[in-house]
Amino acid sequence: MCGIIGYYGSRDPKQVIYDGLKKLEYRGYDSAGIAILDNGKLKRVRSAGKLIHLKEKLDNEKFTGNIGIGHTRWATHGVPNESNAHPHAVGKISLVHNGIIENYQEIKEYLLKEGAKITSDTDSELVAHLISREIEKGSTLKEALSTVIPKLEGAYSIAALSENEPDTLVAVKNGPPLVLGLGKDECFVASDAQAIITYTNKVIFIDDHEIVVAKKDKYQIYDMKGSAISKKITELDMSPDAIEKQGYPHFMKKEIYEQPRVVAAAMSPHIDVANLKISLQVVSSDSNGEALKQDELYSQLKHFERVFIVACGTSFYAGLTGEYILEAMAGIPVEVEFASEFRYRKPVIPKNSLVIVISQSGETADTLASLRMAKEKGAKTLSICNAKNSSIDREAFFKMYMKADAEIGVASTKALTATLALLNLLGVYLGRVNETLTRDEEKSYLRSLQALPSEIEKVLAYDSFFDEAALTLKDYKGFLYMGRGVNYPMAMEGALKLKELAYMHAEGYAAGEMKHGPIALIDDRMAVVVVAPTDDVYEKTVSNLEEVRARGGQIIAIGTGHNERLKSLAKHYLSLPKTSWNLNPVLSVIPLQLMAYHVADRLGFDVDQPRNLAKSVTVE
Ligand code: F6R
Repeated sequence: MCGIIGYYGSRDPKQVIYDGLKKLEYRGYDSAGIAILDNGKLKRVRSAGKLIHLKEKLDNEKFTGNIGIGHTRWATHGVPNESNAHPHAVGKISLVHNGIIENYQEIKEYLLKEGAKITSDTDSELVAHLISREIEKGSTLKEALSTVIPKLEGAYSIAALSENEPDTLVAVKNGPPLVLGLGKDECFVASDAQAIITYTNKVIFIDDHEIVVAKKDKYQIYDMKGSAISKKITELDMSPDAIEKQGYPHFMKKEIYEQPRVVAAAMSPHIDVANLKISLQVVSSDSNGEALKQDELYSQLKHFERVFIVACGTSFYAGLTGEYILEAMAGIPVEVEFASEFRYRKPVIPKNSLVIVISQSGETADTLASLRMAKEKGAKTLSICNAKNSSIDREAFFKMYMKADAEIGVASTKALTATLALLNLLGVYLGRVNETLTRDEEKSYLRSLQALPSEIEKVLAYDSFFDEAALTLKDYKGFLYMGRGVNYPMAMEGALKLKELAYMHAEGYAAGEMKHGPIALIDDRMAVVVVAPTDDVYEKTVSNLEEVRARGGQIIAIGTGHNERLKSLAKHYLSLPKTSWNLNPVLSVIPLQLMAYHVADRLGFDVDQPRNLAKSVTVE
């Protein structure tokens, strides 16, 4: 939430910072701004709203400097207007901040007593005041930050500039991500390497409680005691192309369409095709970035007797689907929990538990805190991340990767289906380890997984159907999504997608729960989306549908193949290719993504950047 960037070098800083902010806009788009040291004087341009508004202002501005900072905001303290937009400037310094200062009230009272003139409602401006006071006393920017940081409670990544040191960019991390990019005679700091990948792939991932002091051609990283530390330079294997729309009208559309390829890429390292055998590739903290050898992995995973899956949002629904899959395939008890709940209760994590955390960004604050808590309690952890080198990826013991490339659309799509594929592979692997699956069953699951990408391809054909149907779907007063068993989490995911993109009331329910309350909502203005593939609870789901139909609910049914019964009950029937029970969620979520996309688009909403949301939730 919030994206920060800083640049020092011989390129035009306005251009580099603006380009970077475009790549960071997924982190928040309530306001944006940049500050550049122009002939030694700080010059700021800020604007409320999306980056495009900042661009209009920047087009009329000329800067002569070569060092600057920029920010794109997801509002925490204070409404999204221009005076609350970053960079904040006080005296001779300016800063950008990602995070939340929890003791801001206390700091504000202190500053007001001291006569400070506070011009915004943000917690970030207060930090600028504290730093500026230290600068006035003669401190360098680094010294000022070192003095101020112990006074701050909360989470923050900050980049700052001072008129007194026109050749220095200073940044600090305590919580939200921060990366230092190293070019030839130039340096960058950013919330995400995507923001700078066009310029350099050499980066250093900054850890908590570290301060970066970067000059044009040299840099130094310090710990909080002021001691210089040396850190590894990582060469990223990231293509700038992945962060372009490549002809699609929206990133979300592109990402929905990428799913056949992404699911295949996520699965491919884990299947020994020649022998049709599972060959799970799991990296561990001890294995130097290499996947563990199969015998080592076997002995390390064999002793787990219980699994916890912890995540937020769409990743949580992937986890919930994983519960059905892992329990059925591997006979292992699984508990799934929202990270924001897990971290604040006192969960009993028995010995021999594996705590799986799922996160596309690898930076979700609650998921990261849950991972840390699980480690403190002595549990082994496994992360399923898309962002390699993210905080969660770096801190988990075992690591698996979605390999979905950058997901820019704020609503998660391809990361979900990649995760579902990985959870299936993990289920097959644990099934083999626990001897709950026969070799024939293993082969049969792997065959279905191999066929999955081409089946997803077929389901994508519903794109044009929803483009048309959205014209009427957008007028319903609300949506209920229903599913049973392994398909129930995708009912909740479908509802989440519609809520976040089309701002319509939508709820996901276990179909069997309808009679216990939600059925009261049903009338002919209520659409009921049911995921009812032919599986062992299909008949039960159809009975629930009959009850909906009897009350006038308008049904959109998703089933398997040619199905006269569902066709006769539903206003719209969508047929999925036949697949194994465990893969129906992967296929059924595709039409749900397309439906939310088209309804939101027909309503004229910004599909890639829905209101009030940010892609990477680095504050709790
Ligand atoms: C919904 C969505 C969010 C994320 C959630 C977790 O479309 O994108 O619900 O799934 O914020 O994010 P990660 O997976 O990055 O931890």
